[in-house]
Amino acid sequence: MKKKIEELEDKMAQARLGGGQDRIEKQHQKGKLTARERVHFLMDEGSFEEIGMLVTHRSTDFGMENQQFYGDGVVTGYGTVNGRLTYVFAQDFTVFGGSLSETHAEKICKIMDLAMKNGAPVIGLNDSGGARIQEGVKSLGGYADIFYRNTIASGLIPQISAIMGPCAGGAVYSPAITDFTIMVENTSYMFVTGPNVVKTVTNEEVTAEELGGASAHSTKSGVTHLTAINDVDCINKIKRLMSFVPQNCEDKAPSLPYEVGEEYREVLKGIIPESANQPYDMREVIEGIMDEDSFLEIHENYAENIVVGFARLAGRSVGIVANQPFNLAGVLDVNSSKKGARFVRFCDCFNIPLLVLVDVPGFLPGTDQEWNGIIVNGAKLLYAFSEATVPRVTLITRKAYGGAYDVMNSKHIGADMNYAWPSAEIAVMGAKGASEIIFRKEIKAADDPVQKLQEKEAIYAEKFANPYSATQRGFVDEVILPEDTRRKLIKTFAMLENKVDQLPKKKHGNIPL
Ligand code: HXC
Repeated sequence: MKKKIEELEDKMAQARLGGGQDRIEKQHQKGKLTARERVHFLMDEGSFEEIGMLVTHRSTDFGMENQQFYGDGVVTGYGTVNGRLTYVFAQDFTVFGGSLSETHAEKICKIMDLAMKNGAPVIGLNDSGGARIQEGVKSLGGYADIFYRNTIASGLIPQISAIMGPCAGGAVYSPAITDFTIMVENTSYMFVTGPNVVKTVTNEEVTAEELGGASAHSTKSGVTHLTAINDVDCINKIKRLMSFVPQNCEDKAPSLPYEVGEEYREVLKGIIPESANQPYDMREVIEGIMDEDSFLEIHENYAENIVVGFARLAGRSVGIVANQPFNLAGVLDVNSSKKGARFVRFCDCFNIPLLVLVDVPGFLPGTDQEWNGIIVNGAKLLYAFSEATVPRVTLITRKAYGGAYDVMNSKHIGADMNYAWPSAEIAVMGAKGASEIIFRKEIKAADDPVQKLQEKEAIYAEKFANPYSATQRGFVDEVILPEDTRRKLIKTFAMLENKVDQLPKKKHGNIPL
């Protein structure tokens, strides 16, 4: 027996060494942790149980039968993250560059199947040269098996992808289907084809970092939701993100213990500028309302005219969607609509209530926007809000103009409670633009057209540049004081906590993709 135990221990020790000490050192020299070190940092101390540690590949081509590494380039298993059951896979770059073989894929699929059956999140730590070249179509099949499961698991359990090394070819599509992607700056990249192929096909000269680094994907493409300065930062951000998210679609959003006290916030009084055209930072409103330091912004540097993220209100996890007057006056455009819609749908999948803060002058006009499909993309946000059945609360801080008023979680599309600050202006458009259209003839005929326009503007503003016309009709439930907003919203979300709402039975809707 002793010999047999030694044999097992020897195999396990080999597995722990992955592709060997030299390759581990290379990984460290690049500023990267190994797969096992990453899992160690992610999971609660002593909680990780590995599955498939001694799996090896079945390939016999190109002398592969002589190159066997236990685990076959991926560490898979389960444990707890902040006390909650979580499944994880971590690709091991020291074994064939973390490339995906048939067996490597089977290991990932095994934990995804377990996660779906047991209702717990899957976190993927990706670091892989893509399909295992020596295996041909078997590795392509392995990828497709994963994509299929990513899709079936979507909306059932949360799926998070960390990109902690190269991620090329098919390897980018699994993260793209998952709920959130986080990239490590300078050591990770994602692209369909690398710089060499790009040069051959389009004659463009571009570095891997420029083409698909964390900066490109967090600012230009929006492919990544978060970035991290190194592996440890990446893992800490995953843990923080998970703290807002329930285990599965049947579970409630997590809540921290909180004792409601005096909840007035004087700071909220001074944020809206006197002039309706002066920008302000909507993040100040978010921070003023929500629990201190609880805001985790998603897509911080992409489509900055809308702000989305998670925060806590009296300990409750809440998803926030807010126009950002600081950027493009908070206008809705193609990218901000897509960003908002995806976030709303995530929150709705996982029972996270929504708080929507509105200061929006409308949709961005122009050929660029029209030709890029502002119609169909704006409709995504409208659709996402309309079909969301989680508690939905709106606060109009200033402008709610035109179609954007409808889109931004208006009462008409199913919001539960709609509030406005006294500074709110709810109208088809701003007073100047409106007067120029409806009083055009009168203004043109006037002796002093400028003065006439100002007169008309003042009349229009008095009638519509306020929250009261909408309040009289019940489109806004109540005009509230800024300093009383936090208290009001704590009570509102508590009141809506057990909301039950169901869409009519159907196969699925057809969101305008
Ligand atoms: C097998 C691979 C591999 C792969 C890397 N390796 N990628 N083995 N299949 N796809 C091995 C290398 O041979 C090397 O082995 C070790 O991993 C480390 O690789 P290096 O090249 O030394 O590392 P580095 O310089 O850091 O470069 C990493 C890399 C590069 C950028 C990922 O290895 C690379 O370009 N690999 C190929 C990427 C690729 O074209 N993949 C296929 C994508 S197509 P040794 O023994 O020397 O340590 C695809 C289709 C899927 O994925 C479609 C699904 C829909």
